[in-house]
Amino acid sequence: RILILDFGSQVTQLIARRLRETGVYCEIWPYTATEDRIRGFGPKGIILSGGPASVTGAESPRAPQVVFEMGLPVLGICYGQQAMAAQLGGEVEPSDHREFGRAFVDVIADCSLFEGVWPKGAREQVWMSHGDRVTRLPSGFRVVAASEGAPMAACADETRHFYGVQFHPEVVHTPHGAQLLKNFALRVAGCRGDWTMAGFKAEAIARIRAQVGTGRVICGLSGGVDSSVAAVLIHEAIGDQLTCIYVDHGLMRANESEQVVATFRDRFNIRLVHRDASDLFLGQLSGVTDPEVKRKTIGRLFIEVFEEEQVKLGGADFLAQGTLYPDVIESVSATGGPSVTIKSHHNVGGLPSHMRMKLVEPLRELFKDEVRALGRELGIPEAIVGRHPFPGPGLAIRIPGEVTREKADLLRKVDSIYLEEIRNAGLYDAIWQAFAVLLPVRTVGVMGDGRTYDQACALRAVTSTDGMTADVYPFDMGFLTRVANRIVNEVRGINRVTYDITSKPPGTIEWE
Ligand code: XMP
Repeated sequence: RILILDFGSQVTQLIARRLRETGVYCEIWPYTATEDRIRGFGPKGIILSGGPASVTGAESPRAPQVVFEMGLPVLGICYGQQAMAAQLGGEVEPSDHREFGRAFVDVIADCSLFEGVWPKGAREQVWMSHGDRVTRLPSGFRVVAASEGAPMAACADETRHFYGVQFHPEVVHTPHGAQLLKNFALRVAGCRGDWTMAGFKAEAIARIRAQVGTGRVICGLSGGVDSSVAAVLIHEAIGDQLTCIYVDHGLMRANESEQVVATFRDRFNIRLVHRDASDLFLGQLSGVTDPEVKRKTIGRLFIEVFEEEQVKLGGADFLAQGTLYPDVIESVSATGGPSVTIKSHHNVGGLPSHMRMKLVEPLRELFKDEVRALGRELGIPEAIVGRHPFPGPGLAIRIPGEVTREKADLLRKVDSIYLEEIRNAGLYDAIWQAFAVLLPVRTVGVMGDGRTYDQACALRAVTSTDGMTADVYPFDMGFLTRVANRIVNEVRGINRVTYDITSKPPGTIEWE
């Protein structure tokens, strides 16, 4: 296993992704990790990430000195290289030739990091983002690659197995970067590269059994990927000691509730409580138009209903949650100031502390696509494993204005035609999220010889990697007009279709 010490770079997670893709298990910790903790982890190599600070600044972050004293291979990336250079007796200076974006390095010496990828004499494309640069190497190091702005773009001390690169091998804009990271982990650090989802599954099952013993576990199922995979995994580990609670707020997409029940109760034989609470949710949402009030109402009711059901079950010792690795990585945010709440998110993770159950979180170490891979390993149908994200408050935040059952029914029809067309066109997997929004406006239309005065809807489809930023999906006009025709012809009450072409930022993905 490899330990990644994070100095706060935007792309640190990509280092972990690249390593895991080559079958090497790794974790990301803040650079402030203690010596005991680092030794306790037992890494075979350590990677120091990039970061926003300047090594030349007063009190800028440093790697724990133990990193260089354990006899382990170390790779410093960008800020990590500079910190390593400074800590081992080299020099770093602000550069008047700043490099941001694409750059080229000349490989001037052989290096174990480059083996099989970058021969001596080659000129290679890399991705740079730096203002400072190393100007004098610590003793024992030599330059192995240079760029115009960074004469020491890569350096190595092959005796101690210390390596530094000024560029970012973890981003795709450094075309062979992943191979360099692989070389570091496999050739230099001697990792085996045999971390697989099948192995993870077996280990996770053993861990769940050890943690839970003969205790009882409840799990809130939402039909989404994370809770589905967590539930099936836990069920494999402890069978009927697990009960899932599916709180149906009546704001799911067409046929979704039936599918959840059919999949988990009938196919996987998981004990499942399906609570239809749609009257309660829609009743309390009546008259509510403010998006935040909607979100909070749904969040509160969700907890109330979930608690009711778990009391009916006689309580449990553990609560299972589908928490993922990006949620648990300790942040190195330097500013730490309170950020503005754009939307108060609701999901099963938000259960109150007075429920006082111990947590079972078997996906804590996984990234989203690893959860999907685990889901496939567990035999969960592709329709669930590969599905687009769906917000906890469901269709309520896709119906601006007051939510009613009639509106939800109308939106479900529009949404399912849209998604059906997307699937038929083979576009589902290329899109991060696609859905319809029911607009609170009526417009005039003409159908046959008659005038219509019906509602308008908007279609949305975006690409994204994490939901934090998003681009509009560029459908061709033929596709959009086909979908629009079907919607207006097949859904009584809708006579106009628009396509939302706002990216995020400045828009958000959902409308509320
Ligand atoms: P926004 O609209 O903030 O959405 O750009 C970003 C991503 O988050 C999803 N989303 C939610 N997910 N509970 C969730 O579990 C929520 O309350 C929630 N609100 C938005 C949204 O669908 C998109 O994928």
